[in-house]
Amino acid sequence: MEPVKQTIDTLRKNIEQWNYQYYVLAQPLISDLEFDLKVKELEKLEAEHPEYFDANSPTQRVGSDLNNNFVPVEHRYPMLSLANTYSEGEVQEFYNRTQKALNEDFEIVCELKYDGTSISLLYENGVLTRAITRGDGVRGDDVTTNVRTIKSIPLRLHGTGYPASFEIRGEILLPWTAFNTLNEEREESGEAPFANPRNAAAGSLKTLNAQVVAQRKLDSFLYYLLGEDLPCDTHYNNLQAARQWGFKISDATKKCATLEEVFDFIHYWNTERKNLPVATDGIVLKVNSIKQQLNLGWTAKSPRWAIAYKFQAEQAETRLNSVDFQVGRTGTVTPVANLEPVLLSGTIVKRASLHNADIISALDLHIGDLCLVEKGGEIIPKITGVNTEARFMIGDKVQFIQKCPACGTPLVREADEAAYYCPNTTGCEPQIKGRIEHFVSRKAMNINAGEGTVEAFFNAGLIRNAADLYKINVQDIFGLERWGEKSAQNFVDSIAESKNVPYPRVLYALGIRFVGETVAKRLARAFPTIDQLMAASHEELIDVGDIGDRIAGSVLDYFADAENRKQLEQLRSFELQFALDKEILAEKTNHLEGKTFVISGIFSHHSRDEYKELIEQHGGKNTATVSAKTNYILAGENMGPAKLEKAEKLGVQIINEDEFLKMI
Ligand code: IVH
Repeated sequence: MEPVKQTIDTLRKNIEQWNYQYYVLAQPLISDLEFDLKVKELEKLEAEHPEYFDANSPTQRVGSDLNNNFVPVEHRYPMLSLANTYSEGEVQEFYNRTQKALNEDFEIVCELKYDGTSISLLYENGVLTRAITRGDGVRGDDVTTNVRTIKSIPLRLHGTGYPASFEIRGEILLPWTAFNTLNEEREESGEAPFANPRNAAAGSLKTLNAQVVAQRKLDSFLYYLLGEDLPCDTHYNNLQAARQWGFKISDATKKCATLEEVFDFIHYWNTERKNLPVATDGIVLKVNSIKQQLNLGWTAKSPRWAIAYKFQAEQAETRLNSVDFQVGRTGTVTPVANLEPVLLSGTIVKRASLHNADIISALDLHIGDLCLVEKGGEIIPKITGVNTEARFMIGDKVQFIQKCPACGTPLVREADEAAYYCPNTTGCEPQIKGRIEHFVSRKAMNINAGEGTVEAFFNAGLIRNAADLYKINVQDIFGLERWGEKSAQNFVDSIAESKNVPYPRVLYALGIRFVGETVAKRLARAFPTIDQLMAASHEELIDVGDIGDRIAGSVLDYFADAENRKQLEQLRSFELQFALDKEILAEKTNHLEGKTFVISGIFSHHSRDEYKELIEQHGGKNTATVSAKTNYILAGENMGPAKLEKAEKLGVQIINEDEFLKMI
């Protein structure tokens, strides 16, 4: 094969893969800059060699984020992208080209380029009727139910003067604060954090459960109107009109009459954007007059009347010294690069995330390589490329390890997950310590264990699991390095105190994979005792709102494990809270004095035995059979028909659980 054809084929293959990672998996492998350069390189070669034309080349389409779970619908107007540039020279070329083509005065509207996921909203008679993702530009996914949960998107328009039917396009964003909170929650529940707010926003929009979307605090900015009878003949005025109808339109939108003003805008926002609550990745320049836009027209992929100037992500080059593999409390193994310290946007960077095995092999990373380190908006810097030309003494190729670095167990990878994990949950030290650390943490059992406590107790052989914490007494600790009598007593007091931590937090403290604070609360509400939760089937679990297959599977796995059950029984013997509203369960009153009860059927809030106990605690009496002396029948589901008949005959009052709980 001709070498140039080979280059073209390789580029096409790579770009396809990067596209898939970016659009389908939302796990980009390379930086936008590098991607754009590769696409440009391919476009150039294809233009020079028309004999190798291929309708399926990645240059012939705009990328796809179609997801099987949503119904694809055709866009009324194709959803094109923008031509990109990273150089001010090309901005000037765009300006000159436009001037030449129009040969009359024109204005440029400068806007921020928001870094989220694009959306097209259809309004008919002032009502939001459809929201579609970009998809492949021709067809996108119908995500209306999810979009309706985004508070900044009007469901009904304000004011008057809007066309009977029009589309408005914009960006769905997850603000930095919401992004950080979401990732903290994900890490707490043992889930992989999102790499950036863009992926988090795109992932959220594709979430099947609209309630989850509603909690995500997504936001929006709208920047482009389409329709037959828009109110104004300039883009800028249409945006101002849209703002009156209730849309979120950026204040950072400026009409510029000269190229100088355009550059002022670019320079101002190049630094000022860092103070914005949402991620931006550039500036968009648009010709203001709609008539002039129509004159300039479109190419197959993008409008000729607009261009995007992209900010350079802050980058630095530095040497890769080694790669560490860390094991988390859920067994997930994360690769971390140790770098020659380098200054990057004001901080010294020594370590960078390598995300997962796919990313390592796509980078073809070798120890000693000069790497490109980038700090987009993300908090943790990442390696986005390797300077292969600077590679003269090649070190070992970085391979993702096959065995757990802590315990040697072969790692496993689940079919649809990028991460490897160590399955040796009960014998792998970092997992054991990690679980205890999680158990004592503030949001869990809130045990007064300072930095290094778990490590020290573990090394002293005092603890092997969370239950062991409750066996520790002052003498055990007193005498350990840096522990005095007072601190030992404080610790033991704090352990005793933790026995009052309510059930939902105890559930969270157990560290069941994917069971974060919110899920734990939800589970506790649906299954008010640990026994009920342990007895729950897969179906019963997913019947609880927002509990999917993955969480249900993880809960079942947890309770199926004999070690876990043993630990639970120990914790129970130490009197931790394993039921909701222990206060209610333990409280004694005389609310039911003189009353006789018969219990029948199956209950959902408490077990039959618990109800018997409750009746006695509140001064009532339990009997087995219905008689003239019976005051109430506490009836659950499937109450025996004989009892029911007898109760009706004797005129005994039948009450359900809720009514009973109100009585006490
Ligand atoms: S205008 C035909 N304006 O950037 C023009 N796009 O690379 C349509 N974007 O798909 C787009 N901020 O998702 C426009 N102020 C802005 C934007 C913006 C972000 C995104 C949008 C688009 C992509 C193009």
